[in-house]
Amino acid sequence: MPFLIDLRSDTVTLPSPEMRKFIFEAPLGDDVFGEDPTIHCLEEETAALLGHEAAIFMPSGTMSNQIAIKAHTHPGDELLCEENAHIYVWEAGGPAVHSGVTSRTIPGKAGQFTLADLEGKIRPINDHYTRTSLVCLENTHNRGGGSVYPLGEIQRIRAWTREKGLAFHLDGARMWNAAVAGGHKPFEIAREFDSVSVCFSKGLGAPVGSALVGSKELIRRARRIRKLFGGGLRQGGIVAAGALFALRNNISRLKEDHENAQIIANAVRNSPNLMLDPDCVETNLVWFRFKQGSGSATALAAKLRSQGVLVSNPLPDLLRACTHLNVDRGDCEKSAEMIEILSKQK
Ligand SMILES: Cc1ncc(COP(=O)(O)O)c(C=O)c1O
Repeated sequence: MPFLIDLRSDTVTLPSPEMRKFIFEAPLGDDVFGEDPTIHCLEEETAALLGHEAAIFMPSGTMSNQIAIKAHTHPGDELLCEENAHIYVWEAGGPAVHSGVTSRTIPGKAGQFTLADLEGKIRPINDHYTRTSLVCLENTHNRGGGSVYPLGEIQRIRAWTREKGLAFHLDGARMWNAAVAGGHKPFEIAREFDSVSVCFSKGLGAPVGSALVGSKELIRRARRIRKLFGGGLRQGGIVAAGALFALRNNISRLKEDHENAQIIANAVRNSPNLMLDPDCVETNLVWFRFKQGSGSATALAAKLRSQGVLVSNPLPDLLRACTHLNVDRGDCEKSAEMIEILSKQK
């Protein structure tokens, strides 16, 4: 195989030589004793960049989201989220399992609902009902095609959650992409929420790691829950260093990933048998499928693989291509060409 282009996810990136050197040289200590200087540094810089009082380093985005949910709720509560939200669909039923919380899902467009969709969704105070206590958004929205939540809508929902006394959490695994695509500073988005989970191991290219930001009190609770979940890290600075390097160096270059995603999206648009789903590509994710009766997504993924192009095929009829720092413009042009050619073959 002449080349291998891995578009399955932005989680597949490998650390660059510069990142590896930074990791190698990072000062370490026991973080469960509060003594890892690299983790401290990462937590301080992340909190500052996102305009929150405090941050806590987490092993994964899933753990970060689920700890946030537990820190904001009590068993028997209900959260409101979009019907394709990662916290609901892709985290193994975490809100129910870890927090005893039910999820009321709201249909959205490209993963986004508006304030109008939320009206009437809070359960009345009554002993029969669950207690609605938390609203979660996802920005960018993974299954929503990497869509960027308009800041104005976030602010309207924020005002409503305040008025109703609800906590407001952002699954910001790809919030960095949302900030770059929307032309915002990361804190301009993050400050609208009580807590934000961000990932360093996706577009930013670190091997491992996420962080949760919020008030000092919320992060104190999150630290205790992280211990409960077995997520206390000892010399965790060895992985936090990759995250710190990523945070300092890899945010503004996300623009390139977004431009490269347009090359793939255009190939889908130019392919008579294919369609984007949803029909918007604003950042680094391109979700697509065959038009009704025009072909098999699984077969196309296999054909692409045989030509050295890997895409994700999470459901039998659905494909996703994701751009990231280990694929360049040339790789995306080659992949786009393959998609156009192979999707026409019967
Ligand atoms: C929107 C979103 N949130 C959370 C996660 C979970 O991150 P992790 O794989 O680090 O648990 C992902 C993973 O792809 C994601 O896409």
